[in-house]
Amino acid sequence: MSIIDGKMIAQKMRDALKARVESLRKAGMAPGLAVIIVGENPASKVYVRNKEKACIEAGIHSEVIVFPEQATQEEVLDRIHALNLNPQIHGILVQLPLPAHFDARRVLDFIDADKDVDGFHPVNAGALFLGKPRLQPCTPYGVMKMLEYENVAVRGKHAVIVGASNIVGKPMAIMLLHKGATVTICNSKTPDLAYHTRNADILVVAVGRPNIVTGDMVKEGAVVIDVGMNRLEDGKLVGDVDFAGAAPRAAKITPVPGGVGPMTITMLLENTVETAERCKETV
Ligand code: GUN
Repeated sequence: MSIIDGKMIAQKMRDALKARVESLRKAGMAPGLAVIIVGENPASKVYVRNKEKACIEAGIHSEVIVFPEQATQEEVLDRIHALNLNPQIHGILVQLPLPAHFDARRVLDFIDADKDVDGFHPVNAGALFLGKPRLQPCTPYGVMKMLEYENVAVRGKHAVIVGASNIVGKPMAIMLLHKGATVTICNSKTPDLAYHTRNADILVVAVGRPNIVTGDMVKEGAVVIDVGMNRLEDGKLVGDVDFAGAAPRAAKITPVPGGVGPMTITMLLENTVETAERCKETV
């Protein structure tokens, strides 16, 4: 068994990005990312702070725009409109979840598809679906980069994904499908989840529930990717997979923390640099 060191892979990718940022800066085009956060969700605040820190380290200009919980959707849409038109901003991200009085889909659709560094806009989701990816969702994109770095063969393998969200599960399935995997997508209503997970050569778990996958649910020699990030009452951060139980059976496994998490932010930086580079080509 080997542990996939997401932190190390992410750092290597961030080092490579620095050179691209430097060359954009020399051309007078510092890449810029705007992050909008509405309300006081503590986990969201931590994620946004980490994104800002990563931008600063990479030399990417970052703007964090904070709205109070009671902000109206119109106010946020007005701000997105201004960012869509702002030539210094190449990437726009609205941190989810939004407060209940928002129509999240309408807000995400309002972001210029060419600045949609989350890859959530229907144009980008559709392009991925059709096998002609533009901007791709950061978490599954990061998982694909990890598998590539680890030389995990995907073609002909059975990939099982637990969790069918728009952010991770669905785009993950499409990416693996396009690389030639046979894909099974499970969700919270799947009966006998273990039957499916035990057939997985590549198992991706993205549910948000500690221990939803236990050691006995993992096939010998599987590659296990744990996307979960759950804070326990004692403050400990754990994934969705029982790491101690699964690790001895897995050929490779990601830890939490230090697995998928650092890759997600790296792909956000990558997408932002890519949008800035595309702008440079058109000026
Ligand atoms: N909330 C949890 N994950 C994500 C993500 O990948 N992007 C955004 N915008 N919000 C999130």
